[in-house]
Amino acid sequence: MIRLAVRVRREDAEVALAELIALAPSGVEEVDLGDRVEYAIYGAPGELPELPDLEAAAGDALVEISTSEVADDWAERWKAFHEPVQIGPLRVRPPWADGRDGDIVIDPGQAFGTGGHHTTRLCVELLLDLDPGGPLADLGCGSGVLAIAAARLGFGPIVALDFDPLCVEATLENAQINRVEMEVARWDLRTDPAPAAPTVVANLLRPLLLQLRFAEPPDVVIASGLLVAEAQEAADHFSAVHGLSEERRLESGDWAALLLRRR
Ligand SMILES: C[S@@+](CC[C@H](N)C(=O)[O-])C[C@H]1O[C@@H](n2cnc3c(N)ncnc32)[C@H](O)[C@@H]1O
Repeated sequence: MIRLAVRVRREDAEVALAELIALAPSGVEEVDLGDRVEYAIYGAPGELPELPDLEAAAGDALVEISTSEVADDWAERWKAFHEPVQIGPLRVRPPWADGRDGDIVIDPGQAFGTGGHHTTRLCVELLLDLDPGGPLADLGCGSGVLAIAAARLGFGPIVALDFDPLCVEATLENAQINRVEMEVARWDLRTDPAPAAPTVVANLLRPLLLQLRFAEPPDVVIASGLLVAEAQEAADHFSAVHGLSEERRLESGDWAALLLRRR
């Protein structure tokens, strides 16, 4: 097993992380090195991202990339950094962590989303603001964590969409583990409008949020995956293009999420 370490400048670390996660959706270990941050990706030789892709992802923030062989403790290290996460009344944990009644169990597999990322937590916090119930679409579902959380909160029927087949597979498996019914489909949001649902949760990055189209205008959209500096542009866009006004904005770390409602 190889440990691939990407060191980046702290001031640009969150932006680099957002890009790196796209290359390593099952997770990135974070090590604080003062004015630098090291992001480590684990994988078998041949399964890790290619050097030019990593360099492009880290961009100007890049300081250095190095690789090392890891011994047999790899599996333990991997598990140790996927810790249970408490968001309001919901506890999200990986299958190997100590369980409590009502936990949402998410096996990260190859898909983004253990519930721990700022952008996901902000979505759940905004979901908790809504009167639960009615159809909901999870756009860019990753591991399915938001769709499952929404089902637990009382929304339904739920449709969860992602263009990555590994995410579709992970969401189907996680829905089954958590005994939640939902429709899961492979869907490219760049080319196909999101299906009709009054409530939409979209934890996507800025470029895709600004490209989204809806088959029918939703009543409520939770838009996340925005850097704090990008939030106003996105709020203005949703207002002008979709007639949705900003009702609430939450920030955590460098990330922001918007609760938008039809005027
Ligand atoms: C930031 S992750 C969010 C995952 C999960 N909803 C969560 O909060 O943990 C964004 C997801 O959007 C998906 N995605 C990216 N581009 C997409 C596209 N064009 N169409 C559909 N899904 C896309 C990615 O595969 C990824 O799973």
